[in-house]
Amino acid sequence: MDKPLTLLNHIAPSFPVPTLHLHDQVQTLDQKLTINGPSKLSGHVHISGSKNSSLAILAATLCCSGTTKLRDVPNLSDTRAMGSILSSLSAEVEVSGDEVLINADGVSCVEPCRDRVKEIRGGFFVIGPLLARFGEAAVALPGGCDIGSRPVDLFMRGLRALGAIVELRDGKVEARVRNGRRLVAGKFRLDYPSVGATETLMMAACLADGVTILSNVAKEPEVIDLAHFLNNSGAHIEGAGSSKIRILGQSQLHGTECTITPDRIEAGTFLLAAAITRSCINISPVFPSHISSLVHKLQTAGCRIRRSGRDSLEVSAVCENGDRVFRGFNVTTSPFPGFPTDLQPQTMALLTTCNGLSRVEESVFERRMTHVQELQKLGARIDLSGSRALIYGKEKASCFLFPSALVGSELTAMDLRGGAALVLAGLAAEGRTEISAAGHIYRGYEDIDRKLAGLGADIQISSSTASVLA
Ligand code: EPU
Repeated sequence: MDKPLTLLNHIAPSFPVPTLHLHDQVQTLDQKLTINGPSKLSGHVHISGSKNSSLAILAATLCCSGTTKLRDVPNLSDTRAMGSILSSLSAEVEVSGDEVLINADGVSCVEPCRDRVKEIRGGFFVIGPLLARFGEAAVALPGGCDIGSRPVDLFMRGLRALGAIVELRDGKVEARVRNGRRLVAGKFRLDYPSVGATETLMMAACLADGVTILSNVAKEPEVIDLAHFLNNSGAHIEGAGSSKIRILGQSQLHGTECTITPDRIEAGTFLLAAAITRSCINISPVFPSHISSLVHKLQTAGCRIRRSGRDSLEVSAVCENGDRVFRGFNVTTSPFPGFPTDLQPQTMALLTTCNGLSRVEESVFERRMTHVQELQKLGARIDLSGSRALIYGKEKASCFLFPSALVGSELTAMDLRGGAALVLAGLAAEGRTEISAAGHIYRGYEDIDRKLAGLGADIQISSSTASVLA
């Protein structure tokens, strides 16, 4: 373990932190997206690196001595916030395009900027590496999209299983190793396969003394991406992607180079954009196995999806009989490899344009249905009861015309994926759709307006404060 820092003597510096050079532009919440539909899309779209892999791996760089180089880090407000969090700990963070260099050897503080941690859920993940490498950490309860209660009990219990003393005090979690020694390996079974808790405990266990076994862990591709990164940094992790992970702790990890995996949720959102506009597009890079649950549903609906290269997919949303009739389908979200909660709102937007009755059930987050009332403003017929929605699609008789019954309107993005659902619906709707609070969407979609415009959509972004310098 590096020399322990004393919590009370190391308070996070106030913001803005000047050492950070993360990308030029910042999207602000009050931005507005205007879409004139209906759109027809064609061509190829490039998929950016994964937001959620980037957030976890940026946190994990705190475990490493020396410099780490990350490639394909997307320029998003969430990744910029994570960069600020690292800077607030006195880590050096330098950005050049989509490459980020991080060196955490100069970390002199174990309490990241509270305001930044309150912006993103991923900010809380630094508690694992800080505790494991520096012996203590004090991290504010995290923020992120308002989609449910999102507690941190599994993180706290898991860190205690590794020998830490962990307390919740004044809205922050304070954790320290006993007697200034290292974390000790342990066995911990998660009650629920939480992605963030799995990742945080994996990072902590990499620097613990002995062999840690984590069971009922998350199997998401982002967990595998993080394990690859840590193993390339000298960690010994086995089983990532299965429900049990075994970690042989090391006394230290070293800097490395890593390319972030393509964003499966962005890829899925573009497949859905093609489907809802009954268009044909190509997307790459993408790992089809990461989005197989969506691909299967889209094929059931009537979409043709085929591999058009090693890491590319072509989606053709024209049915085999030549018309544009799509059958509705049912979706229940669940942890990977189940249907991703992060694609549920966008899928619901598609279902409003399909034939027949569809059912959507959200089982991961309890408040991830705020897009329903916005879709209703476009004319979508949806009955909502708690986390279950019934979507009444179109009648067969009218389906040979452009299939959407949606009509443009003024909408508000309530959260990231719900906001993306409104963009998709706006592409399909007749007339002008204006989406305010569009900054939510830029938390997770790099250049979404430019990418859609490149495919032929009539979409503009505007704001009185437009974009401001970081
Ligand atoms: N949970 C607990 N206790 C905990 C942790 C989680 O009860 O200590 C519960 C949550 O309340 C929730 C469920 O477990 O009901 C799943 O939450 P999980 O911890 O798996 O999610 P997360 O780590 O907070 C990540 C992504 C989310 C994505 C989920 C599920 C990041 C930064 N965020 O969140 O991404 O929806 O996994 O796949 O990795 C997004 O990108 O839009 C997004 C919200």
